[in-house]
Amino acid sequence: MKTHAPKGTYDLLPENASRWRYLENQIHKIFREYGFGEVRTPIFEHTELFQRGIGETTDIVEKEMFTFSDRGDRSITLRPEGTASVVRAFIEHNLAGPGAMAKLYYLGPMFRCEAPQAGRFRQFVQFGAETLGSNDPRVDAEIIALAVNFYRRLGIDDLDINLNSIGCPQCRPAYRQRLLEHLKPRAAQMCPNCQRRLERNPLRLLDCKNTTCQQLTVDIPLITETLCDDCGSHFEKLRQLLDSTGINYRINPRLVRGFDYYTKTVFEILAGDLGAQNALCGGGRYDGLVEMCGGKPTPGIGFAAGMERLMMVLEARQLLPEIDDRPHLYLAPLGEEAQQIIFPLCIRLRESGWIVETDLQGKSLKAQMKVADKLGARLTGVIGEDEYRAGKILMRNMETGEQELIDLAALDEYLEKVLRRR
Ligand code: HAM
Repeated sequence: MKTHAPKGTYDLLPENASRWRYLENQIHKIFREYGFGEVRTPIFEHTELFQRGIGETTDIVEKEMFTFSDRGDRSITLRPEGTASVVRAFIEHNLAGPGAMAKLYYLGPMFRCEAPQAGRFRQFVQFGAETLGSNDPRVDAEIIALAVNFYRRLGIDDLDINLNSIGCPQCRPAYRQRLLEHLKPRAAQMCPNCQRRLERNPLRLLDCKNTTCQQLTVDIPLITETLCDDCGSHFEKLRQLLDSTGINYRINPRLVRGFDYYTKTVFEILAGDLGAQNALCGGGRYDGLVEMCGGKPTPGIGFAAGMERLMMVLEARQLLPEIDDRPHLYLAPLGEEAQQIIFPLCIRLRESGWIVETDLQGKSLKAQMKVADKLGARLTGVIGEDEYRAGKILMRNMETGEQELIDLAALDEYLEKVLRRR
């Protein structure tokens, strides 16, 4: 039986894996520079965490979670995002000391049962950060600056940064009411999903991908017009801070994002060349989430970004550096005696830090040279019967074609000289 990876998943093969590793290193680096510590939470959590945290009327909870019962009949869900898990860990490990802030980041696979398409997978990798413990707009600006500067560092500088404030439990009920008055008479034209959610969560309509529903909300009242003083001044200060750091954003009053935990700031960064799935990353403030998950009232804000989409942009724009994983040396034994020398030699050289390949199948010299060439080895070393007897090795520089017969005992010195190891 021929099996395939499940729909919406993919295998990362060696050539691409080294590009991912490069990107992962860049991610760890910038988070360290901005003062974030890494957390690794489980891939699965109790379903209830996401139901409560993300919200019962969101697409993710209603339609997209991979949920199953474990052997003890507990409902388990593969994490569809990282924020709820980080908040759970924050509460569980008491990371909120008096006056303390926690700045945490993560990188790992998430799972959503969506219809796969370019840039949208069922298992995908997110990196993200969450700052807990401060409602200062500088924290919002820091999170946005981190995300923007990360993309800029990689060479993506034509970012479309969308910003909005969706208010708080003080001002949102009034907006909700205005929205309902506006949308209720149009209910008959809405998609069944929106009809169902209209009364419970009319804000969700702004997030609907259905074109008719989008048309129905073109002339809705704007939330930024009804913000309370606190939300209004928070938004104003954030905008000033972003201006002061040279970040060009645009206010998008329709941006609500697909999670119920957000309060005040929400943002999304888009890249034009991604097509329909054009969000590189998204995030926002969630001042009520910690309390909702059973912790002490603690404000928070964060963002998460898709690795696959970032890779797509970097590849399309040829912004990935050449990664040189080629072997320094290919050792080719000819005959059993030579094999007996070369096998331990190969292990020893690797322990000295060289990338060394050798034949493990008993191939002919010609076939071994073909392999060395295909692997892009910079040097090859051949030991045949004559070399074996004389204690020599025939070195060939694969770039210049030059050959040199050297003493086997002088190999280390030769490698240092020719490969000029840093
Ligand atoms: P999100 O907008 O759902 O936010 O996801 C963030 C990013 O993950 C997206 O912008 C996209 O790049 C990537 N992404 C999402 N779904 C998929 C998918 N099916 N396939 C490939 N990439 C995908 C969150 O997850 C929030 N937890 C962000 C956050 C953190 N808010 C506050 N803190």
